[in-house]
Amino acid sequence: MKRMTSMPGVFDRAAEDLGNIVQFGHVNVAVPDHQLATAFYISGLGLTRDPFMMTGCDNMWVNVGQEQLHLPLGRAQVVRGCIELVVPDTGRLRTRLEGIAGLLAGTQFGLHETEDGIEVRCPWGNRFRCRAADTDRFGYMRLGISAVQLDVAEGVDLRGIVRFYRHIIGARSGLEHDRYGPFAWVSLGASARLVFRGTRQVTDHYDGHHIQITLANFSGPYRKLLDRGLISEESDQHQYRFRDILDPQTREPLVILEHEVRSMRHPMYGRTLLNRNPSQMNDAYVPGRDSLCCTLPMP
Ligand SMILES: [Fe+2]
Repeated sequence: MKRMTSMPGVFDRAAEDLGNIVQFGHVNVAVPDHQLATAFYISGLGLTRDPFMMTGCDNMWVNVGQEQLHLPLGRAQVVRGCIELVVPDTGRLRTRLEGIAGLLAGTQFGLHETEDGIEVRCPWGNRFRCRAADTDRFGYMRLGISAVQLDVAEGVDLRGIVRFYRHIIGARSGLEHDRYGPFAWVSLGASARLVFRGTRQVTDHYDGHHIQITLANFSGPYRKLLDRGLISEESDQHQYRFRDILDPQTREPLVILEHEVRSMRHPMYGRTLLNRNPSQMNDAYVPGRDSLCCTLPMP
């Protein structure tokens, strides 16, 4: 049991703050072939097809811990950057991915080891940076989406991106610098971040992929976006969308990324997502271990 204390200042209370984005829900990228998508996302990455929703042939939702990838059938969409995954075991991941390489021959599929994990490319070019669960780096996440990184043109003012998320959305956001250069970050719920990095190799073409977030204060950002003409879809009572990120000081357009914005009253908020243990095998089956627990003990 943790020691109790009445001393103020002992705990870092600010580290618990989420800001206005209280949940990161999903990344949506269309795929042209669900058979190849099943080979890659289910057999290779070891993820779980949502057994309750989108079970037909025109869409598939894939559980990644408490986040999802949405893969409607259509012309392939590619995130301009990469999606960072936390996985329980990178060694077993590599073995699974090597096992499906033949199925994905002739596609953009590929993998290579990095200094702290495995980088994988899906059959249509989406990049996944997979890292082993680590409480020091990813908290209690054992399986999940820890970040979505968007590459933006080198001249884009990252401070304007920070201002947009802080002042329009009410999110925690900031500017940092690492060995790869400066980047803007935005807090997505308790465990994930949206990251923007400048790069020379970025396409201006936006193909329509989107992310989904949930806001605690739903109407405040809505009014600010509406005042600026930035609401792109009035979806329903619990949801709207925007896609243009502007500097609120200068009104300069900075990045395009569609955000599906939900309230905490959305019927799917806090939905339980099932995840399977991909290590279960017909010839090495362990009774009682079909499910995967997607969290580690809190550090
Ligand atoms: Fe969506």
